[in-house]
Amino acid sequence: MSSVPEELRKVTVPVVRSARDAGIRIVMLTAYDAPTARLLDEAGVDILLVGDSVGNNVLGYDSTLPVTMDEMLHHTRAVVRGARRALVVADMPYLSYQTGRRDAVRNAGRFIKDAGAAAVKIEGGRRRAALVRALLDAEIPVMGHIGLTPQSVHVMGGYRVQGKRVDEARALIEDARALEEAGIFSLVLEGMPEPVGRAVTAAVGTPTIGIGAGRYCDGQVLVFHDFAGFNPGPPPRFARRYADLNAVIGDAARRFIADVRQGSFPSESEVYSAPTPLTSDRRPGRG
Ligand code: KIV
Repeated sequence: MSSVPEELRKVTVPVVRSARDAGIRIVMLTAYDAPTARLLDEAGVDILLVGDSVGNNVLGYDSTLPVTMDEMLHHTRAVVRGARRALVVADMPYLSYQTGRRDAVRNAGRFIKDAGAAAVKIEGGRRRAALVRALLDAEIPVMGHIGLTPQSVHVMGGYRVQGKRVDEARALIEDARALEEAGIFSLVLEGMPEPVGRAVTAAVGTPTIGIGAGRYCDGQVLVFHDFAGFNPGPPPRFARRYADLNAVIGDAARRFIADVRQGSFPSESEVYSAPTPLTSDRRPGRG
């Protein structure tokens, strides 16, 4: 009996945990809806993160802070429906876990039980270690996230690169170790100098997934709208644009407008015909 080819094998939490030992660089993208999830999954992306960045990228908020549990559950269900092979990780929104362990376990459990995600992600370093243990006690795998953590925007005084000072870099290493000790299966490193991303990665056995954290992480993640050029303005320094959806969709809309105004859409091949003429010889498009 032939074995299942590697690229078709379902990505699970243990598969991600062992990625570094297997010499595989982890590929993660955010996804917020079913058709995008299906496309990214079929292309071979390993992890689909239903990021709370849905707030800025899809829902029109200024930050991730207003995003609610209901919004995250809604988008997570959609991504789960679109994914087959990829691991779906749901981001816990602001105040869904900072308010205590009971809230955190109940809310994280909803992502697993009601929405079908395989794991959750929470932001914060060693002060979240006890919470990671509580989630694992409830059989909920946890992805950590340290460095530039957008839910702490007001504490950080803006979206600033973290770990530039030696003491801050050391603190990030301690955070990573504490989260590893608590049992996370992977760790997002966001917005830190490359040497710090490298040092944190070297300090833990848990695979790290970087975004603006340099080349030495075990994997990389991009926000879908940065990756696909679906945000106005230039992409952030750390992001690479792999497509220009702004141009593609803007151009398509302008061509549609022109076609409708000129009366060239719909054409004869784009209409339903009836067996007998029902109307007189009115000009198409004028009622
Ligand atoms: O919400 C998000 O998109 C994230 C990524 C930046 C890792 O947390």
